[in-house]
Amino acid sequence: MSRGLAIVGHGKMGRLIEQFAPEYGFDVRAKFSRADNLHVAAISRESLRGVDVAVEFTTPDAAPDNLRRLASLGINSVCGTTGWFEHLPAVKESVLAAGTALAYSANFSVGVNIFIQTVTLAASLFAKYPEYEAWGWEMHHSAKKDAPSGTLKKLAEEIRASGYERTLTLTANRAGSHPGTHEIGFDSGADTITLRHTARNREGFARGALQAARWAIGKRGVYEFREILGELG
Ligand SMILES: NC(=O)c1ccc[n+]([C@@H]2O[C@H](COP(=O)([O-])OP(=O)(O)OC[C@H]3O[C@@H](n4cnc5c(N)ncnc54)[C@H](OP(=O)(O)O)[C@@H]3O)[C@@H](O)[C@H]2O)c1
Repeated sequence: MSRGLAIVGHGKMGRLIEQFAPEYGFDVRAKFSRADNLHVAAISRESLRGVDVAVEFTTPDAAPDNLRRLASLGINSVCGTTGWFEHLPAVKESVLAAGTALAYSANFSVGVNIFIQTVTLAASLFAKYPEYEAWGWEMHHSAKKDAPSGTLKKLAEEIRASGYERTLTLTANRAGSHPGTHEIGFDSGADTITLRHTARNREGFARGALQAARWAIGKRGVYEFREILGELG
């Protein structure tokens, strides 16, 4: 039996998610874009009839209100929008109060999440050797609104949490239609170590979000994608 999916944000990611949804057992029963969803007006009990879970890929200014609205209507959601995480504590409170679930991530690629774990391990090892200094760099298409990317900020946060406390400079480039490259490097007088993830297209993000959406049905609580990686099928 197929499950009902709502797509909040019918842009590049929303359209890809719609394309792959049937492969994950989903029937797309609602779609929202900015024009029809001013101040969350379109997200209602009526428009969400038959929806089991929503996937949200919009803009940083729209995501917090959309997520709170979905929670208040009892709908579990998956959010890939980046650049709004300063509002995460408030959104989390609403989701927990509503007894719904939210799975979020700045990056829904399985490969990137394993890359983050690899970088974290490397940083914890280099932390003990002061001759190694680190850098972080990312590049995306010119339409991306936030810089540095949520993924680069996440990498920096994990590097810090691993015990690496020396200077870490972050830089970002925006050009063309590139789907995303993230690089972390460690450099000493003797050598350079470069760890790099390059996305070929957006497919991995869409598939990861759909796996998370399938997982989120019937769950409660707020989870970052990497916390549920081991449970996805
Ligand atoms: N987590 C990940 O793995 C991942 C991967 C890729 C991208 N992202 C992030 O996901 C977000 C979307 O990326 P994208 O490439 O799909 O961007 P996009 O092509 O610009 O699409 C964004 C869509 O959101 C819609 N929108 C804006 N405000 C809305 C609202 N209030 N209600 C409903 N829809 C609204 C826009 O509608 P209109 O067309 O009507 O303006 C547009 O269609 C960005 O924050 C990006 O950084 C995350």
